[in-house]
Amino acid sequence: MSTPQPSPQHCPTPRELDDLQLLTTGALAPLTAFNEPGSVVTVDLPAEIAAAESVELVDPEGLPLATLSPATGAVTALTHAQFGPFRRLHLSPAEVREQHAGRTVVPVTDALTEAELDELRALGPVLLLAFAGHGTSRLSSVALVRATLAACDLLDDAAVVVVPLAAHGDPEADHDLGVQVAATYAAGDPVHALADTDGPYPETIAAIVERDLPAPEDQGLVLFFTGLSGSGKSTLAQALMDRVLEQGHRTVTSLDGDVVRRNLSAGLTFSKADRETNIRRIGWVAAEISRHGGLAVCSPIAPFDETRKQVRTMVEEAGGAFFLVHVATPLEECERRDRKGLYAKARRGEIPEFTGISSPYEEPEDAAVRVDTTGRTIEAALDDVIEALAESGHLDLRTAPVVEQEGAR
Ligand code: ADX
Repeated sequence: MSTPQPSPQHCPTPRELDDLQLLTTGALAPLTAFNEPGSVVTVDLPAEIAAAESVELVDPEGLPLATLSPATGAVTALTHAQFGPFRRLHLSPAEVREQHAGRTVVPVTDALTEAELDELRALGPVLLLAFAGHGTSRLSSVALVRATLAACDLLDDAAVVVVPLAAHGDPEADHDLGVQVAATYAAGDPVHALADTDGPYPETIAAIVERDLPAPEDQGLVLFFTGLSGSGKSTLAQALMDRVLEQGHRTVTSLDGDVVRRNLSAGLTFSKADRETNIRRIGWVAAEISRHGGLAVCSPIAPFDETRKQVRTMVEEAGGAFFLVHVATPLEECERRDRKGLYAKARRGEIPEFTGISSPYEEPEDAAVRVDTTGRTIEAALDDVIEALAESGHLDLRTAPVVEQEGAR
């Protein structure tokens, strides 16, 4: 007798997890399954499990949420996530009908302005449906809910329900989906689409928006230097960090390629897969630093465009800014310098997969600034970076600290 094979597990993307929740609560009715023809509500499975009879969908912590039949896209909920900010406000359409019938349903995807609040006051009792799914609002999900609750406090008779309706990268389909979800929640009660009026926010809401979308100079920042070995990345990064420390306005964390490979990435090789792992680790740490408004300066080779883009996404999703510096010193110059003697060894075939010699370096096309250190001093090259950074509004290192030196007067 053969023992039954356990279903393979899969952790969907944040967008897919939002869709899963709405599919299982009936919020996307008449849609009840993933991957219906023509629908944007899809789930992508890795090839090795796509043919399985059933797949267990788990959250990022490994909690089983639902079983999925890859053949039909049908999902059966196993449990509903208990945690997450404002979970208690995630109501299904059936629960809303029980608790909030008779209100005008108003979808909300942004902080509400004074004018929009006036518009709402004219409607009588309202139910604000905060569409807080991945990528739907320019605000983070929690900030959208906080801002909607703050709006609720300024209205006479309003309630807030959170609906994690995500964006699927197709504005028209997403608009239609939003209309349909609102109608499902309204179940016959009126639905009101806000006129999307610009204008000032009430004070409490403005404070929430400001905190969630800080001005560039208050935002977390990841400065990412990419370039060949010997291009001057580490030297430039170090010189820049010295300037930050001298100025004294911010603390800084260094994630240098060689240093990371001695700790965080100890044991990794220079195969493509290991380099990708190395860069994603650096990106993960840097993104966390930026989440807290910090400054991370990274200087690995990071030869692959796609991995660099993944880091950019990680940082931006954490609310940080990603500033890519391409240290574009050409191979001939790096090889001429050969400070560590590695190019000579690579040419002799003693180091396999050496970047620029026997392993590729994909030049970035999305760098904020490009510096070639050939025939230039570090100070001159650094000035280019500092100038571009100041122009971006993220960090202004142009002003030196005023330190009075003894006897200098
Ligand atoms: S990356 O490709 O994964 O981004 P990383 O910046 O961490 O590379 O490490 C590069 C450093 O490792 C180089 O500065 C060099 O000192 C050393 N090194 C050792 N072997 C190689 C190799 N095969 N290719 C490139 N650098 C190597």
